[in-house]
Amino acid sequence: MTTTDISPSRFLAQGNVYLPHIVVIEKIIEETPGVRTLHFNFKDEKLRKEFTFQSGQFAQYSVFGIGEAPFCISSSPTRHDHLEFAVQRVGRVTNALHRLGVGAELGFRGPYGNSFPLDFLQGKNLVFVGGGIGLAPLRSLIWNVIDNRDRYEKIDIVYGARTPADLCFKYDLEAWGKDKTVKFVTTVDRGEASWTGKVGVVPKILEEAAPSAKNAVAIVCGPPIMIRFTFPVLEKLGFTPEQMLTTLEKRMKCGIGKCGRCNIGNIYVCRDGPVFSYAQIKSFVSSEY
Ligand code: FES
Repeated sequence: MTTTDISPSRFLAQGNVYLPHIVVIEKIIEETPGVRTLHFNFKDEKLRKEFTFQSGQFAQYSVFGIGEAPFCISSSPTRHDHLEFAVQRVGRVTNALHRLGVGAELGFRGPYGNSFPLDFLQGKNLVFVGGGIGLAPLRSLIWNVIDNRDRYEKIDIVYGARTPADLCFKYDLEAWGKDKTVKFVTTVDRGEASWTGKVGVVPKILEEAAPSAKNAVAIVCGPPIMIRFTFPVLEKLGFTPEQMLTTLEKRMKCGIGKCGRCNIGNIYVCRDGPVFSYAQIKSFVSSEY
């Protein structure tokens, strides 16, 4: 697998890697009771025009006076008018991000990390498997692929959440459901009277959908438990560890391979990832994920 390394040095704020750029929140979408998507843009007009990133990369976002946290860029680089990231309310910084309104300013450092290997994915059948807010990095790649549809073969998407109310990016789900070039299945662990989709955990629904492993790559992101049970299903379907990719989020601090906070075994998630093949992480996935 080859991944694209994008040096953040192109976008340094005044030459200091820890000094953030200022971005402004332009729109907020409340995805679920605990998850929101923030649309934002750079305050600096030149940066607004010139900033580029790749699907799969992440950035460090700071709420001034509170702290900093990493999130993947969840929008697609094929759509240039703004950037997006999704935040689940789980702690101090994420709670602060949930209190912000349109017009608020944030710090932004990035883009960091590697990205989904577009060269490797071209000409392949793609199987996206997502759970909950884990769809955030996948949707950047899914839209990227849809916007370059002729470069890829079949697209399968299996996405699930605990309940219908926990499904994120419902506007995307609706669009993919209507797209005749995409085979899309959505599922919930627990249905309700008005739910018309599948009921069952993602690995089980993936097994039922049984996408072929031939000339295919599976890209998986979701809660650790989902990831852990999805890889064996993919192996059963004939996918090799090299044909399975995931993106990991792990206790990041500096984001640039300096502090050692994000290591798993001998890899640094921020520097060597966050995108990995299952072949790269198989030895520790059952204990850490
Ligand atoms: S976050 Fe500091 S080394 Fe990865």
